[in-house]
Amino acid sequence: MSAPQIQIVPSVLPADFARLGEECQSLEKAGVDRIQWDVMDGVFVPNLTFGPDVIAACRPLVDVPFEAHLMVVEPDALLPRYVEAGCEVLIVHAEACRHLHRTLASIRDLGASPAVALNPATPVDTLRHVLDLVDEILVMTVNPGFGGQAYIDTMEPKIAEVRAMIEMSGRDIDLEVDGGIGPATVSGAAGAGANVLVAGSSLFRDPEGRAHAVSEIRSIATAAFA
Ligand code: DX5
Repeated sequence: MSAPQIQIVPSVLPADFARLGEECQSLEKAGVDRIQWDVMDGVFVPNLTFGPDVIAACRPLVDVPFEAHLMVVEPDALLPRYVEAGCEVLIVHAEACRHLHRTLASIRDLGASPAVALNPATPVDTLRHVLDLVDEILVMTVNPGFGGQAYIDTMEPKIAEVRAMIEMSGRDIDLEVDGGIGPATVSGAAGAGANVLVAGSSLFRDPEGRAHAVSEIRSIATAAFA
């Protein structure tokens, strides 16, 4: 197992939707490791966001990898579309997949990197029989659907439980957290074992700019994770 790398991943949910291409270029310039598209279907979560064509339009403008956080029910039919749109990582919710094992395997078959997300109430044991299929586990630190929500710090023992499960497996699986992540909360999440930090509001609202937000979150996470 190699040592997990700290990665900073902005959510584009708070971005200016009238200038998404420029926003992706600005995020890449700010030094992010990946860009997360919060895909919402209005059924799994009470919000509606990006189709694959929106992502495909932005793909040629930057080199940084894209991940699609699919907050959609039964995502199987959509998987090829988001891979064709240029997403290297596809995150599906365990709660939204009737056949999670098959869905994760099909993401790998499409040539993308499979990841699975758990909502706050979903137990870690849900992952026990799919660890061999994933490159990343996302522990939600808010209930999905909207940006700008408060970080749920009671998720920290759950993050630690997932980190212990990953260590026991001997597999190189990233542990991502998403929701309310910023300078005031990242040390708790990284200290519990998260190495991939999704930040939306805190990154876009930093008065000193996005590059400052990226480097501040990265340095706090690096110190806490060690
Ligand atoms: C929830 C969204 C948000 C977003 C990050 O469904 O996925 O978590 O990515 O938003 P902030 O960082 O503003 O909580």
